Amino acid sequence: MSALAGKELRIIGFLCNWCSYGGADTAGVARATQPTDLRIVRVPCSGRVDPLFVVRALLNGADGVLVSGCHPGDCHYAAGNYYARRRLEILRQFLPVLGIDPRRFEYTWISASEGQRWQAAVTEFTRQIHSLGPAPKLEDAEPLVRVADMALTALRPLGTGRNAALDELKAAIKAKLPELDCVIGWKQGYDAAHAAPLFMRTEADVDQLIWGPLNVSNPATYLPSLKGKKVGIVVKGCDSRSVVELLQEGLIRREDLTVFSMPCEGTLDMARVQQELGSYRHIDSVERDEAGVTITADGQPHRFCMVEYAQGKCYGCTTPGAVLADVRLGTPTPVTPAEATPPELALLDGMSLGERFSFWKTQMERCIRCGACRNACPMCVCRDYCVSESRDPHWLTQEDKPTEKLFFQAIHALHLAGRCTGCGECQRACPVGIPILALRQHISRAVSQTFDGYRPGMNTGATPPLLGYAVEEKSIHEREWK
Ligand code: FES
Repeated sequence: MSALAGKELRIIGFLCNWCSYGGADTAGVARATQPTDLRIVRVPCSGRVDPLFVVRALLNGADGVLVSGCHPGDCHYAAGNYYARRRLEILRQFLPVLGIDPRRFEYTWISASEGQRWQAAVTEFTRQIHSLGPAPKLEDAEPLVRVADMALTALRPLGTGRNAALDELKAAIKAKLPELDCVIGWKQGYDAAHAAPLFMRTEADVDQLIWGPLNVSNPATYLPSLKGKKVGIVVKGCDSRSVVELLQEGLIRREDLTVFSMPCEGTLDMARVQQELGSYRHIDSVERDEAGVTITADGQPHRFCMVEYAQGKCYGCTTPGAVLADVRLGTPTPVTPAEATPPELALLDGMSLGERFSFWKTQMERCIRCGACRNACPMCVCRDYCVSESRDPHWLTQEDKPTEKLFFQAIHALHLAGRCTGCGECQRACPVGIPILALRQHISRAVSQTFDGYRPGMNTGATPPLLGYAVEEKSIHEREWK
């Protein structure tokens, strides 16, 4: 029975072998009274605690999770807890977007001699979990069917790129083509209302290049698989951030790359366009003017104004021009420097924790586990050893349960922490239109707020914050135990 009144709850403790586990032992030897709800998992170092351990535990029914390691500066492996501190802090800020109360997770530092501190920490944390009560289960959450519409307010002019310097761009690519193995861009897809990736190897290929609001995909996704080849790439501003991030992480080489760019005026949200078009037999025409696109399908015209039908990421975009380019063409698009909350994220921000939990349950029930979100992501580069397919350890089961699907999304989001450039490919590729980009946007905001406004994909020389550490962290403060 718990030392606290009432039923025992399920609390998992990941304790570093060299310090906190010893601290717990010291408290036991001293016969210090402690609650008995905690189940301890001994780990070699707090740096060994993958944030996925915590998310898996919380989604699988744990009521609380406590991670404890050596004090900063005392790690047996020198810096394991410095890395852990950054990861665990971002995890703590990530949990609420899933609908999990962040008070169900704590991390702390306790040495082997601090039996009293251990007693205080475990007692206080257990009391906190008891005050919250048993954790809600995703399977039991009520469905959230009615969701507010996204607020789509453009912070910059959105257009169709009608006056883009496409002929000059084609000429520039043709001039460079003899030095390159291929240049990646876009061509018309299976009909005039859709674009497809284009791999240009001849001048005839270059003539197929298109530019405009239908160029929705991110060509940077193909770059890691072309490492070692001389490659050119045509980019929008958001695509260029993915290129920069790939360079930052050494996944491609700058000397092999030629970047062509024109300012982007926004791209269409094809999921909403498709919804409006409904099922059709034939696209008759696609016409552009300054403000939007008119698609005529089966003789019926459909109007898509950019201010209403742009992708969510375009409304607050501050990088319509490429961050990095060797060949720049066209006139720069004016931007408002202010960062705006993207519409998908603003939607989640407006919900309570319980509503978010219900929202994700409802959305995950629609997920068909096709993996398109992962495959389209330019930063998801370990596909040959993806944890979602690993059998040892077996992170994900094949069960068709919202918990498994949400856990997969949590894996993807956490692996992109400090790396996601917000290109939105995950959400665009989702065939059932789940707003999963909000998870990545939330974690990017947490990284930015914690690490001096850091934005991935802006500077080839920057180190992603979760790949490094600082001995003194300005924005991460340890919890005091009473
Ligand atoms: Fe204890 Fe690294 S050895 S935190």
